[in-house]
Amino acid sequence: MIKVSAPGKIHLLGEHTVVYGKPALLTTIDLRVTVHLRGAKAHLGGVSNLTKIIEPIVKKELKISKASRFALKKIPPYELTITSDIPIGAGLGSSAAVSAAYIGALLVFLKVKWDLNLINKLTFEAEKVFHGNPSGADNKTVIFGGITVPNKLAKNFVLINTGKPKESTKEMIELAKPRIEKILNDQERLVKELLPVIQDGDEKKFIEIIRAGEKNLEKIGVVSPYAAGIIRKIEKAGGAAKICGAGGQTRATGILLTYHKDKKVLEKIAKAENLPYFSTSLGVEGVKLH
Ligand code: PMV
Repeated sequence: MIKVSAPGKIHLLGEHTVVYGKPALLTTIDLRVTVHLRGAKAHLGGVSNLTKIIEPIVKKELKISKASRFALKKIPPYELTITSDIPIGAGLGSSAAVSAAYIGALLVFLKVKWDLNLINKLTFEAEKVFHGNPSGADNKTVIFGGITVPNKLAKNFVLINTGKPKESTKEMIELAKPRIEKILNDQERLVKELLPVIQDGDEKKFIEIIRAGEKNLEKIGVVSPYAAGIIRKIEKAGGAAKICGAGGQTRATGILLTYHKDKKVLEKIAKAENLPYFSTSLGVEGVKLH
């Protein structure tokens, strides 16, 4: 039995502007997708939509690459089980994680050497099918792992789930496009300032940067009034919060990354809004062959 898992991810900052070549800061969270794969006597049942996306990508690569020990015409039959703790469509990189774990397991099944760069290349192809014009940041993070956030900051994070946005990532990128130019340089500056601030665990500056980064995301229209309302409450209570990923225009925006020196304040706000929330370790290992 082949077992491969991959973590979810969050955007600390730089979503949307990363699509235009600007830097973004992401890290992994300890919610994972796990894929079990083993050879079977025959293909069982119908072919899932995911298989329809993943298999052609892997086949195309193996036909043209020398990585495989055999010229591949057909993939032998196999059984696949996927389990996931990552909420779908909440901006936590579930599509990248499931693709990475599936591709990793399928390559092992086909006797291709475990190679993170190859898994990354093929997962990026799958992300293009899912998201149209992805930056590649999600796949890189869930495969190679994310930056470590010192405990001093990490222990005060709460992820609040506002629900699955009505709009797709593809639609949100289109929606942001006409206004993106206005924030490109400022968001780049903030992302660059954020890295040393996180590494030093500088709480005051961290709050300032997250607040400013969130304002920029609001300027490009990817934060619904509903999510902005919750974020204002957190700011008023002395914390900071931002949408995480593509966002949403109508109501739900996926996960909110929220921070307060007293985590209970965040939990109270989430409860009052009737929203699920959780704490998570950050910077866990990327895709893994067990
Ligand atoms: O919400 P997600 O995980 O699909 O994140 C999208 C982030 C964008 O920057 C909007 C797109 C991308 O490919 O980086």
